[in-house]
Amino acid sequence: MAEDECDISEAGYRHLSLLFRVTIRISTTMYDLTVIIPTYNEEANIRDIVSEVDNVFRDNALNGEILVVDDNSPDATIAIVNEMKKAKPNLNILVRTDDRGLSQSVAEGFAHASSEIFVVIDADFSHPPSLIPAMYSEIRSGNEVVIGSRYMVGGEIKKWPIKRRIISIGATFLGRLLFPDITDPVSGFFAVRKEVVTNAPLKPRGYKILLEVLGKGTWEKDREIPFEFVDRDVGSSKLKLKTIVEYAEQVMDITLYSFSHHQSAAWREWKKVFKFGIVGIIGILINMGVLYCLTNYVGLFYLVSSLFAIELSVLNNFLWNDLWTFRSYQQHRLSSRWHRLIAFHGVSVGGLVINMGILYLLTSFFGIYYLVSNLLGILVAFAWNFWVNRRVTWKTEK
Ligand code: GDD
Ligand code: MN
Repeated sequence: MAEDECDISEAGYRHLSLLFRVTIRISTTMYDLTVIIPTYNEEANIRDIVSEVDNVFRDNALNGEILVVDDNSPDATIAIVNEMKKAKPNLNILVRTDDRGLSQSVAEGFAHASSEIFVVIDADFSHPPSLIPAMYSEIRSGNEVVIGSRYMVGGEIKKWPIKRRIISIGATFLGRLLFPDITDPVSGFFAVRKEVVTNAPLKPRGYKILLEVLGKGTWEKDREIPFEFVDRDVGSSKLKLKTIVEYAEQVMDITLYSFSHHQSAAWREWKKVFKFGIVGIIGILINMGVLYCLTNYVGLFYLVSSLFAIELSVLNNFLWNDLWTFRSYQQHRLSSRWHRLIAFHGVSVGGLVINMGILYLLTSFFGIYYLVSNLLGILVAFAWNFWVNRRVTWKTEK
C-alpha cells in the first residue's frame, strides 16, 4: 500500500514537471513570430502601423505578436498603444527610460519577444508590412536571416534627397566589405531567428542594428527580398551626423570582433582574403620560376619568357581560387568554369594596369623610390583583384 502511494506521487510529480516544461515551452513560443516596432514620437503613425501589421497577421493566418519598443516618447505614442492593447491581446509595449536609441530598442525587443522568429519594421511605413509573411516563410524554410533589400533588383528608394542617398550608398559600401553577398546590410527591415541573436554579444548603437546582428550573430544562410523604401510622409527622420560616426566605429568593432571569433560571417570573408593572398604569392613564385627556366634553360628572350610566365601564373591562380578560395556550396552566378576563367583574365589585366599605373605615377611624378611605389601598386592591385573577383567572377547565386 505504502509502495503504491509512493508510485502515485512519483507519477504525479512527473506529470507536474511535464506540465511545467510544457508551460515554459508555451511561454517562449506562444507566437509564430514577433514583429518589433521601435518608436520615438510616432503618434502620427503608430495606430495605422499596428493595425496594418495585425491585418497582415489575420489575412495570412499568422499567430503573431506585435512588440512596440518605445524610448519614452513625450508625444501620445505610448498612450495610443496602451489604448489599442485593450482590444489586441497580441500587442505589447516596452517603454525604455535608461537611454535612447533605435538599435538598443530593437535589441531589447529581441530579449523580450515571445516567439522564435523576429521581424523588425519601422513605424513610419517606409517598410511594407505586406512583406512580413514572405520573410516569415523564408525563415521557416531554413534561412536564419532574411533582409528586405533596397539595393537588389526590384528594390528601390522613393523620395530620398540626394544627401541621404549618398550617405546611404557610402554606408552600404562599407557594410558590403564585411558581407559582400548581401546587397543591403544596413537595412532596417529584416527578420531573424532567435538563436542567431540570443548568445551574440550585441553592442547596439546608432541605426544599423542589422549590421551588428550580421557581425556578431551566428548564422550561415541568408536571403534577401527586394522592397521599395518609401520615405516617411509624417514626422521626421532622426538620422544625425553622430549616427554616421557611430557607424564607422561599429564597422571597425565588427572587424576586430571577427579576428577573434572565427565562427562569425565576417571571418569567413577574411579567410577568403587570406587564401587569395596565399594563392597570389604562389603565383608570383611560379611567375619567377617559369621566367627563369624559359630564359636560362630554353634560351627564350626574357620578355617572351615573361609572357608565358604571366599566363601560367594567372592559370595557376585561377585554378587554386576556383577549387579552394571560393569553393562554395552555393552555385556561382558564372556557372561555367570557362566563363569564370575569362572573367578572371579580365580582372587580372585590370590589376596589372593598376599596378603599373601606380608605379609610374608615384615614381615619375612624385619621385617616390620605385620599389616603394611598386609595393603600393601591388597592394592596390591586390585589393582590386580580390574585390572584383569576389563580386563578379565568383559571385554566388542565391
Ligand atoms: N525606440 C526608438 N528609439 N525608436 C527610434 C529611435 C530611438 O531613439 N529613433 C528612431 N526610432 C524609430 C522611429 O520611430 C521609426 O519607427 C524607426 O525607428 C526609423 O526611424 P527614422 O528616423 O524614420 O529612420 P530613417 O527613415 O531615417 O532610417 C531608416 O532607414 C535606414 C536605412 O537607411 C531606418 O529603417 C533605419 O533602421 C535604416 O537603417
Ligand atoms: Mn523613416
